[in-house]
Amino acid sequence: MEVLSVASEVYPLIKTGGLADVAGALPGALGPHGVSMRTLAPGYPAVMAKMKRGRVVRELDDLFGVRAKLIAGRVDGLDVVILDAPQLYDRPGNPYVGPDGWDWPDNWKRFAALSWVAAELGLGLVEGYRPQVIHAHDWQAGLAPAYIKFSGNQHVKTMMTVHNMAFKGFFGADIFTQLRLPPQAFSVHGVEFYGGISYLKAGMECADFVTTVSPSYADEIRTPAFGVGLEGLLNARSDTVFGILNGIDTSAWNPATDPALVQNFSTNTIHMRRVNKRAVADQFGLDGVDGPLFCVVSRLTDQKGMDLLLEAVDGLVAGGGRLVVLGSGEAHLEDGFSRAAAQHPGKVGIITGYNEPLSHLMQGGCDAILIPSRFEPCGLTQLYGLRYGCVPVVSRIGGLADTVIHANPAALSAEVATGVVFDPNSAPMLVEAIRKTMHLYADEKRWKKMQRRGMKSDVSWDTSAARYADLYATLTGLKTNDDPDN
Ligand code: ADP
Ligand code: GLC
Repeated sequence: MEVLSVASEVYPLIKTGGLADVAGALPGALGPHGVSMRTLAPGYPAVMAKMKRGRVVRELDDLFGVRAKLIAGRVDGLDVVILDAPQLYDRPGNPYVGPDGWDWPDNWKRFAALSWVAAELGLGLVEGYRPQVIHAHDWQAGLAPAYIKFSGNQHVKTMMTVHNMAFKGFFGADIFTQLRLPPQAFSVHGVEFYGGISYLKAGMECADFVTTVSPSYADEIRTPAFGVGLEGLLNARSDTVFGILNGIDTSAWNPATDPALVQNFSTNTIHMRRVNKRAVADQFGLDGVDGPLFCVVSRLTDQKGMDLLLEAVDGLVAGGGRLVVLGSGEAHLEDGFSRAAAQHPGKVGIITGYNEPLSHLMQGGCDAILIPSRFEPCGLTQLYGLRYGCVPVVSRIGGLADTVIHANPAALSAEVATGVVFDPNSAPMLVEAIRKTMHLYADEKRWKKMQRRGMKSDVSWDTSAARYADLYATLTGLKTNDDPDN
């Protein structure tokens, strides 16, 4: 089975969030299930720097008005096709926004081009390569299923995975004539969305199957509160919408071998995490390592409930906790955490920016990770937390609710609890969850048991990769929907 994955980021070539982790880990996880996955991604500078030994497999003179090359190769364990179009992607910094902090004004073209090339690859653009399924991730790849649908080709199948409904790839209707789609595509059964164009909606409407990254989020987005205008579409095609939980790359994220840790450890040597805790405390300028150390590794945005955490910081410190924050995002939140650090010297620290090794060290040294998200399609940092003995404290929403077992009395006595789950998501409830966590932490033996359970819980891709493989097989007719084990 040959599948082309299309994603605007893929770890370790380029990453701004969880999408990259998923797009980077899925191909390896699918291999044992008989799926060969190649990834199409844009040639941002960081990506091109790694493609020195790639092979040009196709040149395009007029890709939405620019020249482009397709470069194929194997890099960092991934089979990739990189869309090298300097006029579209050779720009510094973040893949989506310019130095002024605003979206690049030609994002519509940059990601229409990516999607168009994906569809053309499905239709035979490169001799000798013919994927049976195009698997598009998020709005940046959302037009790929639309190009396939309106090409009339019945052979190549499409799957759209929604990692976040909040980003719709919405543009004015005026771009339509430049999208290389037939007039009938500007309709409710195509790319049209509230008078404009949404690439995400296009993908969700036109793909053969739609998936999202946790069962709970798959349910939530069928309601107006989370579907934000797309719940009708989802409900209308609910038998072709699936929620499949993300896994993590358990070899890149292995506390026993992770080179980013000062001290490696396993379930039997959990006490050695303390060495990492001290290293984290040093890096963030904390005044010691006694008592519970909470961390955040996150985009600093509304979605992640970081404003709620700002309200809870005083309570956290008053209860005897310390907090370290690694993140970047909205200026008022970065400023808020900087102010909190100044108000609580030695107890609260913030490092802004993106730092992959430090994120590993924090998971391997901090006692608990706080994730008070307002919505969370899946969330990966709670999975890394589980794997590294950094107990997740999470709101009961989306993938967080699906992956963390709350330490209520029943779960504690049944010895199944892996974290603290709270709702409704508000600053007072977060303070209460933090208090509960500190209470659990105070019983060292019980705490270590909970950490160990988390470390042993299955956060791998095994089960979910099998489900994706199954869906590809159903799409391509290798398997029927009536199969008893479907
Ligand atoms: P989202 O994709 O919504 O941001 P996820 O939890 O799915 O949330 O994935 C976030 C990914 O980005 C995780 O791998 C997390 O460790 C990483 N991450 C977030 N912020 C930072 C940061 N400032 N430095 C390093 N890694 C980060
Ligand atoms: C999105 C979501 C996050 C999810 C990630 C990978 O960025 O916000 O919840 O884990 O995609 O699927």
